[in-house]
Amino acid sequence: TGYVTLDTGFVNTGSCQSAITYIDGDAGILRYRGYPIEQLAQNSTFLETSYLLIYGELPTTEQLTAFDSSIRHHTLLHEDMKRFFDGFPRDAHPMPVLASAVNALSTFYQDNLNPTDPAGVDLTTIRLMAKLPTIAAYAYKKSIGQPFLYPDNSLGTVENFLRMTFGFPAEPYEVNETARAALDLLLILHADHEQNCSTSTVRTVGSAQANMFASIAAGINALSGPSHGGANQAVLEMLENIHRSSDDVDGFVKRVKNREEGVRLMGFGHRVYKNYDPRAALVKKMADDVLTKLGVSDPLLDIAMELEQHALSDDYFIERKLYPNVDFYTGLIYKALGFPNRMFTVLFALGRLPGWIAQWREMMQDPAFKISRPRQIYTGPGERDYVGVGNR
Ligand code: CMC
Repeated sequence: TGYVTLDTGFVNTGSCQSAITYIDGDAGILRYRGYPIEQLAQNSTFLETSYLLIYGELPTTEQLTAFDSSIRHHTLLHEDMKRFFDGFPRDAHPMPVLASAVNALSTFYQDNLNPTDPAGVDLTTIRLMAKLPTIAAYAYKKSIGQPFLYPDNSLGTVENFLRMTFGFPAEPYEVNETARAALDLLLILHADHEQNCSTSTVRTVGSAQANMFASIAAGINALSGPSHGGANQAVLEMLENIHRSSDDVDGFVKRVKNREEGVRLMGFGHRVYKNYDPRAALVKKMADDVLTKLGVSDPLLDIAMELEQHALSDDYFIERKLYPNVDFYTGLIYKALGFPNRMFTVLFALGRLPGWIAQWREMMQDPAFKISRPRQIYTGPGERDYVGVGNR
């Protein structure tokens, strides 16, 4: 009934009011709770930024310590959960493993799932923040046939994750400070991005009063797509293909412009940023610095820089306002830190988690909150009479 305005892809449809993240796509501005991303990148930590996003203000020392210790307290997975990982094929992509395991968490904590119970919501918040790094590390260990490491709660969340990912039970693991700081910063840059596809998914699923684990598992699945978080893996594969084949950068850009088999320049373009992506500017600066500090020389970095330069001076990309997005250079850093391509989107998920949690909680507290239920314009047949199977 009534008039329906079609907005495929919700290009210009607001779905909520939110006090979490501000983006001005024309000016290249991104702020979490009012704080410019550049200032948080320079001064904050992932833990502190997560607190800011979830609770609305930067924490005092006491608040940050309490947040940190409750997260450390909840890093273990239930022993029964560890067996889940055995059920997946050895070559399973870690993103569906991550989403399945997060969904499964709801079966272990059934007493605290009610979205209207503030204590339960707080506990689920901490459990997710604490357990996602453990799950992510186990998904990786499973894929390479190495034993799982129990979390070491004397370590902070990022160190603990690096140790569980790259360490061995039989040896002490020394966290490389350059790697830790680089990963911490990348997690800050991914921590929220207002109503992107995965966050809108988390809100949509949560709007049916589904619990936070179920909503965030859905968000992880949305993130896995190559048009969204999966782009960081796709960028590295694109750079590897260019490097491996005789295709030079010019040749590849031509194929993109000719739209050969839907070839896109992965890591370029954004629905909201039409000038530049401030996260990409920070990541580009980091990439060179981190690779140098780690003593890594990667020919793919040169290809990426050439590709960027080429695209930025080409009319096809200029006319369409296509610039590098956050995913263009992140893969090169993750690779230098030792992560295989298939883990890149998992790292994006670890970063985006506090944003998903903050948005889910904000929605549940919004007095104007309603179940998501878009309309459509029907294009099928008009009314017709049923015909029995023998007469069709
Ligand atoms: N390479 C080549 N052409 C492109 C690209 C690209 N990466 N992105 C957009 N275009 C073209 C597109 O073909 C269209 O041209 P035309 O009007 O002639 O048909 C025009 O630019 C507008 O593109 P659109 O598809 O209408 O834009 P959108 O807002 O619907 O899509 C996007 C945004 C990010 C999905 C898209 O730019 C894309 O697929 N980029 C590559 C994947 C990627 O890097 N994704 C990560 C996004 S940032 C992090 C995140 O959200 O996870």
